Amino acid sequence: MKLSDGRTLGRSGLIVSPLALGTMTFGNAAWGSPDDVAGQVFDTYLQGGGNFIDTADVYSGGRSEELVGRFIAERGVRDQVVLATKSGFNVQPGNPHAGGNGRKHIHAALHASLRRLGTDYVDLYWLHVYDMVTPAEEVLQTMGDLVRSGLIRYFGLSDIPAWYATKMVTLAQAHHVPGPVASQLEYSLVARQLEAEHRPAAADSGVGLMPWSPLAGGFLTGKYTRADTAGQGRLSGSNPFQGPFTKFTDRNWAILDTLREVAAQTGHTPAQVALAWAAAQPGVTSTLIGARTPEQLRANLASLEVQLTPEHLHTLDRVSSPGPDFFSPGLQSAIFGGVPVQGWRPGP
Ligand SMILES: NC(=O)c1ccc[n+]([C@@H]2O[C@H](COP(=O)([O-])OP(=O)(O)OC[C@H]3O[C@@H](n4cnc5c(N)ncnc54)[C@H](OP(=O)(O)O)[C@@H]3O)[C@@H](O)[C@H]2O)c1
Repeated sequence: MKLSDGRTLGRSGLIVSPLALGTMTFGNAAWGSPDDVAGQVFDTYLQGGGNFIDTADVYSGGRSEELVGRFIAERGVRDQVVLATKSGFNVQPGNPHAGGNGRKHIHAALHASLRRLGTDYVDLYWLHVYDMVTPAEEVLQTMGDLVRSGLIRYFGLSDIPAWYATKMVTLAQAHHVPGPVASQLEYSLVARQLEAEHRPAAADSGVGLMPWSPLAGGFLTGKYTRADTAGQGRLSGSNPFQGPFTKFTDRNWAILDTLREVAAQTGHTPAQVALAWAAAQPGVTSTLIGARTPEQLRANLASLEVQLTPEHLHTLDRVSSPGPDFFSPGLQSAIFGGVPVQGWRPGP
């Protein structure tokens, strides 16, 4: 597979690269890239053949959007990239209208993003996070209005429960209006929660899965060890994966041990194998990768050349298993009296 290969994002006409460039590091003083290095990361991705750029209004307080907009304009590539941004997290503490998914905030946030990005439309607009109050019907109407107005081409849902995504897809289909084309969720060898509900829901709904933090913020590169978790990168300092979200757990170290073994057997790095594992999972359309330097990005783009054998995939699946699923092959066998039954599956 090549970075320049195209695939549709879910059941839509939006053609994206198999790896998307995350720009959460752009403009981030704590664990991101200086502006000139961010530009090199951006160029490395485009020169490799990639077309799918992901940012958000809250990344680096809007600086990520400003840099992405500037890089796109300077290189004259607006027509060839799929530009995605998000809204949902609060941008003005104390003001509930400066966050969430109500119509008032989505409109305000999109216009602010368009200004920072220096463009008059985004290709893909993400609901960044489920706000636990706004009805699915309201979000669907708001996003549909934005599609019809031309301010966005498609929309997707990030960090939402599967029932909420499914409700929106079902309403959209019933009313023949634009529905969500993709779900963006945390997914990696150490975070496989989406497999229980989101994966079957997405397959049934024609929604593409887009994993974020496929390296668990750098943990799966293998540069942290049980003995030394300091001074190696993002996870060493102030970062979003602390306290209850820490990646440094016994379970994760055991997964990393096995990942290192598979990497050694295949002659690739742990990061490349972890990315190849994510890309190989059913339903995954495009994996959202992050890099602080062009060297990291080049190394990670090479994961597209990694061919994991069924044995390697099985080894990685076993050590990182999220636990038994109630809806198992054993249960199905009991239901159908031991006769193997193949249900309908989308695609080849
Ligand atoms: N929807 C959401 O809620 C959500 C949440 C998070 C992220 N995202 C999106 O997903 C994108 C990717 O997330 P992420 O940045 O967390 O992805 P990630 O791939 O899990 O982590 C990327 C980080 O790992 C380290 N790294 C990457 N490649 C490396 C290599 N080859 N060798 C050594 N270290 C390496 C770098 O950090 P250091 O060098 O500093 O260690 C890099 O910034 C973001 O940019 C954003 O667009 C979305």
